[in-house]
Amino acid sequence: MTLEFAKRIARIPVYPVAAGYDLGEDVAMLASNESAFEPLSEVVQAASEAAARANRYPDPSYAPLRRALSDRYGVPAGRIALGNGSCDLLLAAAEALLEPGAEVVYAWPAFSVYPQLAAATGARAIQVPLDERARHDLEAIGREVTVATRLVLICNPNNPTSTALALEEIEELLHAIPRHVCVILDEAYCEFSLTLGDPQASVALLRRHPNLALLRTFSKVYGLAGLRVGYALCGSEELRIATEQVRQPFHLNVAAQAAAVEALRHQQEVERRVTATVAAREQLVAGLQGLGLWVAESDANFVWVALGAGAEEREVLDGLRERGVLVRAGASLGSEGHLRITVGTARENARCLAALSELVSDRTRA
Ligand SMILES: Cc1ncc(COP(=O)(O)O)c(C=O)c1O
Repeated sequence: MTLEFAKRIARIPVYPVAAGYDLGEDVAMLASNESAFEPLSEVVQAASEAAARANRYPDPSYAPLRRALSDRYGVPAGRIALGNGSCDLLLAAAEALLEPGAEVVYAWPAFSVYPQLAAATGARAIQVPLDERARHDLEAIGREVTVATRLVLICNPNNPTSTALALEEIEELLHAIPRHVCVILDEAYCEFSLTLGDPQASVALLRRHPNLALLRTFSKVYGLAGLRVGYALCGSEELRIATEQVRQPFHLNVAAQAAAVEALRHQQEVERRVTATVAAREQLVAGLQGLGLWVAESDANFVWVALGAGAEEREVLDGLRERGVLVRAGASLGSEGHLRITVGTARENARCLAALSELVSDRTRA
């Protein structure tokens, strides 16, 4: 049987999911930028208590989570959009803002879901190459904003390249973008950034730029990737209302809501985990550099490594996989000849470095 689908289905790129879930327990999972830390026991308990009441639909206003986020960031609850992961919010925002004839501008390579936004809505994607240090070229992005632009995406720190720009530079671009154009600053990894220094810092931008939304997630620093909670702190209520219009009701399940509320109560532990991750990142970077590899300046919980001209990305990936180490292929993220490696536990990082040292030779060094 051949089903007849909407034309957009053929346009939508397949998301490059991580492979290796079939490899069993003893694998260093460094391919999906997850947290190396499991959720706190209090968070697991809150989720399971909520699950015990799962015969009821979730609170459709998500009031406790909105309130907790509002208290933490000083943004009114009406300007906080919630999603089943921040990917869900990205897709909702695209559905609300984009259509044939409209344009979405973003750097490339950046988060691999971005190309889906134009493909799903029939809008035109304008991809702006990163600079030579694998960072956003904000001037070039500004030059691509036209009367057709509805959405500009800035990924800071950028996935997959891990680089971040200072907020002052981003604000210069914001000043140059017309107020009717929505700007989403995707800050999935902002807590790990020494450049940004503080996840509260960008919140001040919302007061000056009502067309801005800060996209955040509980999947990374809070270690809740499996429960799927994302949020956007918005400069005005409009985007929150529009994303709710295009979403199904009850898109955030009870366990996820309860876990997120509880996770926000443990900021000291979050800070401790950030400190440990940044220290491990520095060790991993030093180890990679010790192998003669070029590593982008990382401000996230992952690193971006260039393999030299003689290296076969596929061979290195296969070699790592054979040694029980899963990392992400640059080819699947828009830049062949690179690896994106998540900062894991000390043991996982050491295992990755040991495996790489067997696989990269003088021939493969950048
Ligand atoms: C830059 C960026 N934004 C958003 C997301 C989506 O995260 P989630 O849907 O788990 O909240 C990711 C996930 O890897 C990401 O890297």
